[in-house]
Amino acid sequence: MAIMSERVSLQDQEKKAAAEAALSYVREGMSLGLGTGSTAAFAVRGLGRMVRDGLKIRAVPTSRQTRSLARAEGIPLTTLQDCPRLDLTIDGADEADRRCRLVKGGGGALLREKIVASASRRMLAIVDSSKLVEYLGAFPLPVEVVPFAWPVVLPRLAALGCSPVLRRRGDEPFVTDEGNYIIDCPFKTLDDPSGLAAEISPLAGVVEHGLFIGLCHEVIVARGSSTETISCGPGNEP
Ligand code: 5RP
Repeated sequence: MAIMSERVSLQDQEKKAAAEAALSYVREGMSLGLGTGSTAAFAVRGLGRMVRDGLKIRAVPTSRQTRSLARAEGIPLTTLQDCPRLDLTIDGADEADRRCRLVKGGGGALLREKIVASASRRMLAIVDSSKLVEYLGAFPLPVEVVPFAWPVVLPRLAALGCSPVLRRRGDEPFVTDEGNYIIDCPFKTLDDPSGLAAEISPLAGVVEHGLFIGLCHEVIVARGSSTETISCGPGNEP
């Protein structure tokens, strides 16, 4: 048990180190996208400190959870309606590879996260060392679907080579902030993430999937207290 809690706290140290490194990209006057999850929460808390120290920014949160944390931190919030183009988004990921391709959606916010990332001039993914992988796919790929469609989409995802599972919270399906369901797809290894994305996107009833390809400019990976920045620039695919 003691070993377990030590391991958890080391991972948290790395999450925090990655988040702090990402905050060095923030400048006065920027409009920011705020990601969702425990790693992004370190960035939101750090940003809250910077705002209390006088930094002027405005931010679009990617989930209700992040919105309430950002509010509690005193971060000025805006919307995509008022600010459709963002300077920088900082978000976590479930997996990242060295081509800045990500799997996201473990926290269920992938749809808003992808919209906000696509509205951003620059997206930074912040991850602890366990998330950097040679091949994406060990983490089950989340696919967001319209509730009406899930019984139809599930076998179509199975036909792509996984054993998909409807995500649940207790006895009920998990419902996203946009009112949709999520199907988790354990593919094990993704040989061709772009090809898979192109097969999933057109399925009727699929709203979005958790593959972020060509959206992320830099992955900041923390290992212990040091960080590595993997830079891919825009359009990192193929
Ligand atoms: C939420 C996400 C998160 O970024 C991802 O799940 C990572 O979360 P954490 O930082 O808690 O490990 O995609 O939809």
